[in-house]
This record gives sequence, structure tokens and C-alpha cells, in this order.
Amino acid sequence: MKSLDSISSTMQIVATLLTALSLPALADSPDIGPLPPVAANPDNLPTTARMALGQALFFDNRISGSGKLNCSSCHLPEVGWTLPSAFSVANEGFVERRNPPTLINVGYNKALIWDGRAPNLEKQAIGSTTNPVHKGQNMETLMKVFNDDPKVVALFQAAYGNKPNADDYGRALAVWQRHFLVTGQSDFDRYMEGNKLAMSESAVRGMAVFTGKGGCIACHNGPNFSDSDFHNIGLKRNPEFDKPEYRKILAFDAKRMKLEKPDEVTDDPGRYLVTKDKADWKKFKTPTLRNLADTAPYMHDGRYASLDAVIDHYDRGGDGVDNQDPRIKPLGLSAAEKADLKAFLRALWGPLPRLQTSAN
Ligand code: HEC
Ligand code: HEC
Repeated sequence: MKSLDSISSTMQIVATLLTALSLPALADSPDIGPLPPVAANPDNLPTTARMALGQALFFDNRISGSGKLNCSSCHLPEVGWTLPSAFSVANEGFVERRNPPTLINVGYNKALIWDGRAPNLEKQAIGSTTNPVHKGQNMETLMKVFNDDPKVVALFQAAYGNKPNADDYGRALAVWQRHFLVTGQSDFDRYMEGNKLAMSESAVRGMAVFTGKGGCIACHNGPNFSDSDFHNIGLKRNPEFDKPEYRKILAFDAKRMKLEKPDEVTDDPGRYLVTKDKADWKKFKTPTLRNLADTAPYMHDGRYASLDAVIDHYDRGGDGVDNQDPRIKPLGLSAAEKADLKAFLRALWGPLPRLQTSAN
């Protein structure tokens, strides 16, 4: 029988070995790691037929009232499933005052839309289709069109065993986005899985800034680098909102969200639109940081064209606005630390899903 002493010394050796083996940054960052498989919705499990229907609907112009827009008009596959402009394009007669979020890894998001107004991908797909600013389509009209098209009827039948209907329309778009729009492995994922050469030395140092001095991990955590919560990171009012067309859309949306005195709204109220709680003034959801190389410009209004501009925003402690999160404060990062942080953010890039079309 082993003596207690020898057991405790063995345990000490094991503990020392574990400390030596574990990466210093790993110990500091229990909250970030490789992407696990996305969780399925048990009421909407993926099948080949459902995925085929979802993809077909995503690219079908008939889903917009004008017949000119489909989901990819504002979530372009080749630029990270978003748009390279600050503000999104909009339905005829409207302008948009927000940047389309990337749809990459959207299945991991608990909060949907910059202010979290959509409860899930199934409902969001229908909301996006009927929203006058986005597609302005009428679901009944659309279902009539689809029921008159034998190809679409066959796709719905194969997917859900029903003729085209609004619920299954939302489900098909949701299941396809959830299970198809997922990034492949990034250098960061490989590094966290044990390949210590997968990230450059600069990126490894940048990870320490991210989890330490930079404080980024407070909000950008979990495998998709979002806490699914809402924060005011101190962005000053966008001067574009002085233009009459943006004043009009701000008032239009405030009215839709039943704010008091919608015509007096001159800024994007963010989460406040949903909760009407002053504490939520100008809070927006924490976006993913994966594939930032594909998804510029950044922030809910696309105000920053580069990662350097984003890092400078955090380094100066934001713009100092009402209700700014106290964690957004001057960081005092050196030029080298900024470069390392950027290298780390770039290491979160993974290959985009490739569309299978009849052409390839
Ligand atoms: C006219 C442009 C436009 C079209 C067309 C469009 N979107 Fe969007 N989408 C946006 C914008 C802008 C936002 C952000 C809206 C906001 O925060 O108010 C958004 C947000 C989303 C989100 C929320 C993502 C997140 O992580 O918060 C999803 C999901 C989405 N769109 C899916 C779709 C689908 C599915 C379609 C087709 C049925 C579609 N979109 C069509 C512009 C568009
Ligand atoms: C208090 C929470 C919080 C902290 C701390 C924080 N962020 Fe953010 N981050 C957010 C939110 C919320 C947004 C979206 C803000 C908006 O659009 O209004 C955001 C946006 C971003 C974006 C833009 C992404 C896109 O697709 O538009 C980047 C990049 C980013 N943060 C990186 C960082 C880095 C690097 C740090 C650390 C220096 C950091 N963040 C610290 C909450 C935070």
C-alpha cells in the first residue's frame, strides 16, 4: 500500500506537469474556445430536403414585394454574409440606418437583430420578409405564388410534408442558416485544440491582451465571442442621422416599436426600443468576432472601416456618452499591443461555407 506521503508527492508531480502543459493564456481564458457543433432546434431538425428548401428560399427574389431583393441582397456570401457598406441597402422608398450583421455562425446567437427584437431564427425569417424596410412582402401573397409553382410545392412537401405555408417557410430559412452558415476551423481553434504553432507569436500575445489588459473577454466570450447580451460601448451619435431620410427612418422604426413621441427620436435607441428601459439606452448586442476580415465595416452602423479604428475606439475609452458601460475606459495600449491584438482578432478567421450550385 502506498504511503500518504508518496500519494501527495505523486499528486504534486501531476499538478506541476499540468501547470507546465497548460498554456498560460488558456488558464486566463476559460471562456473562449473552439466552436462546438451548433445546437439543433428539436422542432426543426436538419434534413437534406429542409436544407435544400432553405437555400432555395434564401436566394429567391419572389420573397420581396418588389421582386428585386432576396436575403443575399443584404447578406452577400462572398463578403462574409453581410454588406461592405456602412448602412444596409433597403426596400424601395426606404433607407436603412444599420449595418447587416454577418449571418456566419448565426445559429450560435441567442440575441438576434442589433437590439435583440427577434426571438429566434424561425420568426426572424418571417419578420424580415414582411418588414417594409427590408422586403415589404405579404406572407399570404407569397404563399399563393409558391403554391402555384410546382417546383416550390415539391420542395416544401419533401421538407415538411406540407404545401407552402408561412411557418415552414420560416423553419426552412432558419434550419439552413443554423446548420449551413458555420465557419470552418480558424488558427485560434487549432491553437486551442493543442497545436501551439497554429497562431503566430504576435497573435498569442494578442490573446493575452484580449483576456487581460484589453478586457475584451468581459463581453466577447463563449466560442462565438459573444455573451449574447447588450452593451453601450460609448459610440457617439452618428452625424448621418442629421439627414432627413435618416430622421424619417428613425422615427418610422420608433413608431413601429411603439415609443412615445417617435417623431422626436433623433438617434438609434438600440435595446431601449425593445425594453423601453432607460438602462438600455443605446445598448446593442455583442457581435461575434469570428471572420472579421470578411465583415468590415464594423459596429451596428458600420462606422468603423478598419480593425485599427475599432481598437483605437476601445483604447481611448470610447467617446464618453450617456449610459456608457464603465468597463469601456482608456486602456493605454502600446503600438505593439495594438498590433498583437489585431493579429489575434485576425486569427479568428475560418473558411466560409461554400455554396454547392449546379455550376460547381
Ligand atoms: C434589405 C436588406 C436585407 C434583406 C433583404 C435581408 N436582410 Fe437580414 N438583416 C438586414 C439588416 C439591416 C439587419 C439588422 C437589422 C437591425 O438590427 O435592425 C438584418 C438582420 C438579420 C438577422 C439577425 C442576425 C443577428 O445575428 O442579429 C438575420 C438572421 C437575418 N437578417 C436573416 C435574413 C434572412 C433570412 C433574409 C431573407 C428572408 C434577410 N435577412 C434579408 C438586412 C437585410
Ligand atoms: C462592455 C462590453 C464590451 C467590451 C468590454 C468589448 N466589446 Fe467589442 N463590442 C461590444 C458590443 C456591444 C459591440 C457592438 C456595438 C455597437 O455596434 O453598438 C462590440 C463590437 C465590437 C467589434 C465590431 C464587430 C462587428 O462585426 O461589427 C469589434 C471588432 C470588437 N467589438 C472588438 C472588441 C475588442 C478588441 C475589445 C477589447 C479591446 C472589445 N471589443 C471590448 C461589447 C464589448
